Amino acid sequence: MRTHYCGQVNASHIGQEVELCGWAHRRRDHGGVIFIDLRDREGLIQVVYDPDLQEIFSIAEQVRNEFVLRIRGRVRARPEGSINPDLATGEVEVLGLELEVLNRSETPPFQLDEHENVSEEVRLRYRYIDLRRPEMLSHIRLRSAITRQLRQFLDDQGFLDIETPMLTKATPEGARDYLVPSRTHPGRFFALPQSPQLFKQLLMMSGVDRYYQVVRCFRDEDLRADRQPEFTQLDVETSFMDEGEFIDLMEEMIRQLVKQVLGDDLPIPFPRMTYQEAVRRFGSDRPDLRCPLELVDVGDLMQEVEFKVFSGPASDPCGRVAALCLPGGCELTRKEIDGYTKFVGIYGARGLAYIKVNDASSGKAGLQSPIVKFLSDEAVKTILERTGATDGDLIFFGADKASVVNEALGALRVKLGEDRGLMKPGWHPLWVVDFPMFEWDEKANRWTPLHHPFTAPKEEHLALLETDPGACHSRAYDMVLNGTELGGGSIRIHRERVQQQVFRLLGISEEEAEQKFGFLLTALKFGCPPHGGLAFGLDRLVMLLTGADSIREVMAFPKTQTAACLLTSAPSEVSEEQLKELSIRIRKIKTEGQE
Ligand code: AMO
Ligand code: AMP
Repeated sequence: MRTHYCGQVNASHIGQEVELCGWAHRRRDHGGVIFIDLRDREGLIQVVYDPDLQEIFSIAEQVRNEFVLRIRGRVRARPEGSINPDLATGEVEVLGLELEVLNRSETPPFQLDEHENVSEEVRLRYRYIDLRRPEMLSHIRLRSAITRQLRQFLDDQGFLDIETPMLTKATPEGARDYLVPSRTHPGRFFALPQSPQLFKQLLMMSGVDRYYQVVRCFRDEDLRADRQPEFTQLDVETSFMDEGEFIDLMEEMIRQLVKQVLGDDLPIPFPRMTYQEAVRRFGSDRPDLRCPLELVDVGDLMQEVEFKVFSGPASDPCGRVAALCLPGGCELTRKEIDGYTKFVGIYGARGLAYIKVNDASSGKAGLQSPIVKFLSDEAVKTILERTGATDGDLIFFGADKASVVNEALGALRVKLGEDRGLMKPGWHPLWVVDFPMFEWDEKANRWTPLHHPFTAPKEEHLALLETDPGACHSRAYDMVLNGTELGGGSIRIHRERVQQQVFRLLGISEEEAEQKFGFLLTALKFGCPPHGGLAFGLDRLVMLLTGADSIREVMAFPKTQTAACLLTSAPSEVSEEQLKELSIRIRKIKTEGQE
């Protein structure tokens, strides 16, 4: 039907006849001449219709936005003064000789170049129109290029691309399962995989040695900008590699990817940081290293102060009192400080004390602060030394349970970095390693795994499983890029005895372990090699590399924050007959608008 893509016509085609297909992006009437900007996947080209070709001209007059057209015409140079340097085809235009309307379009719900004034709801409902926008298309293309590069790298390294079941048994990754009722086994359910974790381990036991899959995962969890109920992982597993070798291989893959796709260089090697250091310095196990601000512990100076808000957490082994110094922060107005106090409130902080360092040489008199009256001269001096604060700086303080302080000040440092223009440009990846195996869940009164329960403990910590689980570290690793957790994985437990031990520690009875993971425990008995791997969140990776601010922007058909598809109106009701076949009776149908 066509000889060229619209966006590829250029000065080298001047004088040639071309046939193009696409959508009418815009039509303009200019004193008897009609201009149609014709758009396809590759871009826009201006097509001109003169009134002397009367019949064609009258068709052109009827063209409206988003009509699908096929045109034939001659490429010519644009007249001097009408060259458009912003357009790849801006030096040329096509003099229209034929025009066929392949399909009409109703007035679209939004103009492509006015999408910013349109709610995301409308964009999602008419996703096929939204995807026509060049920006959206470029995300989808880059995504395709990224997947291609990753596959290429792994294929070259001898990895086998193997599909694993979608209708399966629950694999715990910390979220709720999506369940699928079985017709042939009434009352029973499949779970959609939260990840292919157990199947890829079984593949190592099968002798596959190196596996990967670009795979859809399903998690029924609270959604955010970087989470979707169904998302894609690049899932990888290898046998007979230790964490050092494996980390190097994955790092090389990401380095090559970023070089090939964006032309950017990542550091060799990526910095590696223990979980403990990351949390201490940045309040987070996925620190954004673009921001130079760091948390500094001051709890030891606050144990005796008269201010209970500080002395309480300072004396509590689960508490933390930390400071965050903002260079030049004296400029902040009261209103701005109040804004930041509100911001940390989102993370559960009950306040945000601060000291403005107007003149450090005059001791306390040179400081402006609601809390300085509670502090000794000595303590103030030490705080200034530790934070490195000098005249003009502002020091924020957080005091609470360590988890609250870490989350609040961790988020605040990134926000300050962004608001104050402190973020370094470029890519700042790192590996976070040396995670604790377990964390204590206060509410449930039991240990939960920091990663999943198949993660191996450090060999030298094996004995701690019995004596001090909280001190036991795992062989897990996370790759973090500019504050986003891109991927995570671990060396796995390959001995049945250790797996049983970990299940027991997590409060999973032998009976429950048998019922849920019996197949894994059995498989572990038949010659399981040492193995380990990781999974990258492909959507997050694409989001970062495209600069998009949500993973919804890099998925063709994402779901809303309430896990619904506005385009197809899924989830939806099903017929009584279907329910009967599945032996399901609905107890209570929620009315519309009810959560
Ligand atoms: P994990 O649960 O850390 O590990 O997931 C790996 C990566 O997947 C991405 N991710 C998500 N992306 C979008 N929406 C979500 N809801 C979502 N949840 C996770 C993240 C994350 O780093 N089986 C293990 C991996 C392993 O041990 O090999 C696993 O799934 O980028
Ligand atoms: P108050 O005595 O409640 O007026 O608090 C004095 C200062 O301490 C204010 O600047 C509060 O924002 C701050 N503050 C209160 N609670 C905390 C907390 N948990 N962590 C840090 N600062 C706090």
